[in-house]
Amino acid sequence: MLSALWSVDEMLAPIERAIRTDRVTALAAALARLDEAGAFDDPALFASPLPHRYARRPIACDPLGRFVVLAMSWAPAQSSPLHDHAGLWGAEIVVAGTMREKTFRLIERDGRDRYRFSPERERVAAKGEVGIVIPPLEYHEFGNAGDTPARTVHVYAGDLRRCRSYVAGEDGAWRARVAELPADA
Ligand SMILES: [Fe+2]
Repeated sequence: MLSALWSVDEMLAPIERAIRTDRVTALAAALARLDEAGAFDDPALFASPLPHRYARRPIACDPLGRFVVLAMSWAPAQSSPLHDHAGLWGAEIVVAGTMREKTFRLIERDGRDRYRFSPERERVAAKGEVGIVIPPLEYHEFGNAGDTPARTVHVYAGDLRRCRSYVAGEDGAWRARVAELPADA
């Protein structure tokens, strides 16, 4: 059953309460409860994946800049590059399909702006599972692990408009580039 009765304000109230606690576990629990109640079932919340990348659509930006809620949709095999979250904490829930997350630990950044990461862990998350981001543990790759479209909802404790993504070089070091995050219609 679609969540036609859920307004964005109804969805935001428990998210805002969780953000105010300043606890990522409270945010993760709030997202799990919302998903279970069908708050993220409305397909209109999500943009369609583009041919060349996943889609990202802001659901809400707190006017006080305390948090942002983002809807993302992923075609099979689509994935993000390795990226950070601009130093913000947050939580990400799978609301349809299955996703793979590979987390990395930043080992060093040298004077020539080269980064070294060590792979940390890899997990596959199904509907209702929540991942958390707590800087400095904020580096990951995130992508569709299945052969059907996937949808995720992300909440970050700030106004996340840009982050850094990282490209692996042949020397084993990674280079950062600032990624302006799109808002897809
Ligand atoms: Fe992420």
